[in-house]
Order: sequence, then C-alpha cells, then structure tokens
Amino acid sequence: MQRESAGSLRSTDIGRRVRLAGWVHRVRDHGGVLFFDLRDRSGICQIVVSPTDAASAAASRLRPEWVIAVEGTVRTRQEGAKNAKIATGEIEVSDVALEVLSESDVPPVLPSANDVPDEAVRLRYRFLDLRREEMQRNLALRHRVLQATRRYLDAAGFYELETPMLTRSTPEGSRDFLVPSRMQPGAFYALPQSPQLFKQLLMVSGFERYFQIVRCFRDEDLRADRQPEFTQIDIEMSFAQQEDVLSLAEGLTKSLVAEAGWDLSLPLKRLTYKDAMARYGSDKPDLRIPLEIIDLGTLADAFDTPLIQGALAAGGVLRGLRAPGGAALSRKQWDELGREIERFGVKSVPYVIRDADGLRGSLAKALQPQAQDALIGALGLAVGDAAAILAGEDEKVSLALGVLRLSFADRFALRKPGHRFLWVTDFPLMEWSEEEGRAVSRHHPFTHPNPADLGRLEDEPLAVRAQAYDLVLDGVEVAGGSIRIHERLLQERIFKLLGLTEEETRNKFGFLLDAFRYGAPPHGGVAFGFDRLIMLLAGASSIRDVIAFPKTAKGTDLLTGAPAEVAKAQLEELRLREMPPEEAKR
Ligand code: AMO
Repeated sequence: MQRESAGSLRSTDIGRRVRLAGWVHRVRDHGGVLFFDLRDRSGICQIVVSPTDAASAAASRLRPEWVIAVEGTVRTRQEGAKNAKIATGEIEVSDVALEVLSESDVPPVLPSANDVPDEAVRLRYRFLDLRREEMQRNLALRHRVLQATRRYLDAAGFYELETPMLTRSTPEGSRDFLVPSRMQPGAFYALPQSPQLFKQLLMVSGFERYFQIVRCFRDEDLRADRQPEFTQIDIEMSFAQQEDVLSLAEGLTKSLVAEAGWDLSLPLKRLTYKDAMARYGSDKPDLRIPLEIIDLGTLADAFDTPLIQGALAAGGVLRGLRAPGGAALSRKQWDELGREIERFGVKSVPYVIRDADGLRGSLAKALQPQAQDALIGALGLAVGDAAAILAGEDEKVSLALGVLRLSFADRFALRKPGHRFLWVTDFPLMEWSEEEGRAVSRHHPFTHPNPADLGRLEDEPLAVRAQAYDLVLDGVEVAGGSIRIHERLLQERIFKLLGLTEEETRNKFGFLLDAFRYGAPPHGGVAFGFDRLIMLLAGASSIRDVIAFPKTAKGTDLLTGAPAEVAKAQLEELRLREMPPEEAKR
C-alpha cells in the first residue's frame, strides 16, 4: 500500500484505508483509549487505538518522536472532538495496524512543546529543532523561493553558471576565510566573499546573462542578519544599464515574494542616497515608520545656545525629529537615548516637549518665545509629542537622528503593518576610512562612477556618485549591485585612487585588466542576500531561523563543534605550525 501524507487527509477520505508513516508527535490516554498525533512533513493526523484493538499493546509503548508506520481507516471525529485549528481536525484514523520503525530517547528539543528552548540547545540538537513546525515552514518557504528564482531567471534567459569556491581573495571589504594549499606550501586560497570578478569575466566571455545561487564567505562580526557563510542570488547582465538591472530585479522580487503570499506593485519606490540620509538618517530606511527628519535651518537663529550656534558657524546643520507621544519619556529615558547616539559625538539629546501650555524640555528655554509656533509647525508637534533637535556635522546629525527614529519606533510601536520595499540609488563611490586614513570603495572597486561625475574623480573623490543601488525591505538591505567599470583605463584610475600601486594592481587584478583589453561589453548586476530575504518573508527575527545549519554569533557550529582543532599531521602536511602562545597574544 502506498504511503500517504498525514496532513493531507480530509473528510472526503472518510472510509478509506490509508498507510501513514512519521513521528509520534503527542500521546494522550483517555481512560484506556489512546490518541496519538502522527506527524510527517505535511502535518499532523490523529490516530485512535482502543484497548480492544490488536495494536493496543504496541500503541501503549509509544513515546514522543518514535518513528512509526500505521495502516488504518479514516473516520469522522466525534462531535466535540473536532479541531478547526488543524487541517485534519475533522477526521481521525482508527482500526490500525502499527509498526515501530525506530524508537527515540527523550528528546532535548520536543517539537510538540509550546515554548521554544534556548537557542544554544536548539543549535546543539539542530536535527530535532528542525522538526519544529516553524522551522519546517521556514525551510519549505526557502525551497519554494529557490525554485521560483530558477524558474524566473531561466525564463528571462539567464544561464546558471558555477564559479570556484577555492579562489583568490576578492575585495568586498570583509576579511577572507583562507584555505592553505598543500601542493604549494605557504600559498592560500580564499573562499569567495562573492563571485564578483568571475561573473564579470563571464560577461567578457559573452554569456550575456548569468545567475548563480551561491554560497559566499565573509569573516566579519556577526549579527542577527549576518552569517559567515550565506547565500546570494547573484546576477550579471551585459549591455545593461541601471534601469535594466533594476527592472529585472523588481520582476524577480515580485515573483519571489509571491511565494510568501505577498503582492508587490511595481515599480518600487526609489530614493537617492542623499535623500534617504536627509529624510531618514539611514541608507536603508524602514519606511514602515511614519517619521521624517526635518531640516530646521531656517529656524537656527531662534536658538540662543552656543552649542547650536557654534555648530552652525562651523558649517553644520540643524535638524529635528518628532517623537509621537514623546512627552511620556522620562529624563532617564532621554539619557538612554543619548547613549544610543554617543558614537556620533552627541553627549545628550537636546529636546523639546509640547504640552498644553507650549514647549518645555532641555532646549525650550534657549528658544526665543516668538519662534515657538514656527518650531511646533515645522516639526508637526501635537500636544503630548516631543522632538529631538540636533546640530552638528551633516552626516553625523543624520545618522544620529536615524538611530533615534528606529528607537522611537520601538518605544512607541510606530511601525505600520505591511511591508515596504525601496531602492536606494546614487550611493557615493567612495567613503573615508578613519581606520585606513584613505578613501575606500563604498560598494567595491569595480563599480562604475556616475559618468556626469567623472571629472571630479581625482579632485573630489568623496563627492563622486556611483552607479550603485541597494534594495531595502523594511529597513534591511536585501540586495545590492552596480553598473561595472568595463574600461581598462578607468579601472586603473580607480585602483590608483584607492592607493594601489601599479604592482599591486597587476598582481591582484591583472587578469581582470587583461580581460578588459579584449572586448569587454558594458555590464552590471546585482546580488540578493537570499537568507535575509527569506528571513523577512518568513517573519523570522534572525537569519539563523531560515538556515538549516547556521553558526552562532561567535561563528561556531554547535552541532558539529566547528571550528575545531586539527591533527598535528594535517598541519605538518600543510607546512603550518601553531604560533607559540606568547607570540599569539601580541
Ligand atoms: P553585497 O556585499 O552588497 O554585494 O552583498 C549582497 C547582499 O548579500 C547580503 N549579505 C549578507 N547576508 C548574510 N550574511 C552576510 N554576512 C552578508 N553580507 C552580505 C546582503 C547584501 O545586500 N558582489 C556584490 C554584488 C554585486 O555588486 O552584484 C556583493 O556581494 O543582503
């Protein structure tokens, strides 16, 4: 008899004899009559065994997570025993023959339990944790979106091509994972941070449209939306301009999110980097939060405080952000908010509160009385609202208010339901790295500068815009890409600007520059952070909840214990030796 799915049985199956196999989810004993839920990938089905049934003795031994097969007859449940909450809640299977396929110890993670165990336990026993309904749902969604990606891109004429995992380091701005070479002692492969250069070479090779669902490796500090190995939907197109890439990516996004039941209307909203920073204080604004930063430059003269006047005299800006209901914030809470933005050089948050009598708060006294109404109007303050008002350097003020915007949204539950996508475009080509004391690429060094800004490249590199774009969903960067440089001389100019010597350029990127000598088509592309996208589609709060075997924030795989020491012989074979402890500390 063919096995059927437990979760697929309905009242239309009543009277049929069926064979099911799966795990014992729950067992209940109602005065000798045993009810147990049999679970498989498709769901749950109730099985009933009476004391007089032949299967009674075997059934009474069953414990949670044993693996069994049953054959039985589908019948309707008694009135009162029906359960509208589950798809099979109208029926049960009785008159069963039962076979135990595998027994189970008492599991440390019980899929039927209501509360979710500690994450360390879940990751240690990931094979059990993955039996939980939520994880089954998340990974099933992941599978469907993967298949939808392949369908969509295949239909749009993209070839799925693979690129090496053992390669040379590509500069995406993170640290590489290195793999020592046995055959060439002292030399290392790097695991790819992305297939960036290979996909560009595939364009030079004439494949025109490429995609790959590809694992990328980055040795960076981890957060809820970052893993050391993660998956990208990586895309590259020849003869494409920014509009072509954005429109392809939008079409793909629409079809992918449909797998989660989301309906997306196109085209997606767009904001330039400059506007996103000015209005939301972030290059990945969460548009579900109905708050915008307001420029208060025209009211600057109304504030008699050296802090504000000094900042403005130094060429700074004055901006404010409303906190709806912010009158309820205590001094202590304002102090906490201050600590959240300390890193932008703000010691405490100057603020005003609007109550029935007008404005009060740390900044109210410094405000000329006749300017009160103008400030209330500019910030849109209702009675009971407050506002943070910051003066200082443009980018720092924006970023600080951006952090407060998220904090206000958390504290006052401001996020609107639904989901908000947007493109952020016209990123700066380069940014200043304090660490390195020089300009570095904001995206990567293969990004094409905006042709209109090419003349400023050497004199004002930080003012040059890139043909680079990010796709943002609910405040998370889910994709990023750019039009690439395909002109050898321009690429060399960029390497020089980034401080690479000719020798370094030759050594690291000679193969790319060579490729550009032999007829490189204009090209561009984009890469989606696949895990992040699934995390948001699944409504999960961590990327770990959509990856079968993820790593902890410390980069450990609690299941296998990786990373782990290796045998001395292995190290010797690779000509590697552990550093003495005193040296390692340095
Ligand atoms: P980028 O570095 O922006 O671009 O990466 C593309 C997308 O990958 C996701 N992502 C991550 N997801 C999980 N864990 C991480 N550690 C992690 N790092 C990045 C993000 C990001 O938007 N080669 C370019 C793409 C291109 O230019 O076509 C690249 O890798 O969602």
